[in-house]
Amino acid sequence: MNPLKHVAIIMDGNGRWGLKFKNSRNAGHKAGLNTVEKIIKETIKKDISFLTLFAFSTENWKRPRKEINYLFSLLENFLINRIEDLHKQNIKLKILGSKKFSPRLNKLLNDSEKKTSKNTKLQINLALNYGSKSELINAFKKMKKNKNTITEKNLSRNLQTKNIPDPDLLIRTGNTKRLSNFLLWQLAYSEIFFEKKLWPAFNEKDYNKIIKEYKSIKRNFGKI
Ligand code: FPP
Repeated sequence: MNPLKHVAIIMDGNGRWGLKFKNSRNAGHKAGLNTVEKIIKETIKKDISFLTLFAFSTENWKRPRKEINYLFSLLENFLINRIEDLHKQNIKLKILGSKKFSPRLNKLLNDSEKKTSKNTKLQINLALNYGSKSELINAFKKMKKNKNTITEKNLSRNLQTKNIPDPDLLIRTGNTKRLSNFLLWQLAYSEIFFEKKLWPAFNEKDYNKIIKEYKSIKRNFGKI
């Protein structure tokens, strides 16, 4: 059985779910947050050490301001209401991406990271204003500046995911088969599952089914 240390998720389909069932994309994001809570709980139960969630891409700035503001207000409320409990559960929060938000949200993110930085049960990496190509370019720039030799190890060390093992498993919900500029380097050998369900409809049972299938796969890493 394959060990499972790190699950990464592209939580796609909030907008479509919201429009279909509540006539509002934002209602889909709200429902998506409930799925986030369920999946965090299940990840703890399964003893998985890292969970990386793609919550906002560098390309998502092209959305209407009203939707962007709503997403950030959801995130703010989530941090205000839930960080204490996450901390009590020994969960560490790390932000991937560049924190170019309102001063209030930036502070909330920094404080939440600081507060939980020593926790060890589960590390949740929240990808916010994250784009993999720009992460790679920044890593090359740092390497050039420090005159590092260009090796896989050095590149990995200069990414924002430094000290985080590569994802074993990537799940993308929402019936779309693409990577959307997410962890392009880190996903080189991950097992990828594309799920038809929209993110708000995804549940623990679907998650466990994927985990079970993942565990039974023969992972070769290029060998035979
Ligand atoms: C993609 O669905 C989802 C997002 C861009 C946002 C993800 C946010 C959440 C799950 C809720 C907030 C999370 C936290 C941690 C506070 P989409 O809107 O692109 O869906 P569509 O493809 O149907 O349009």
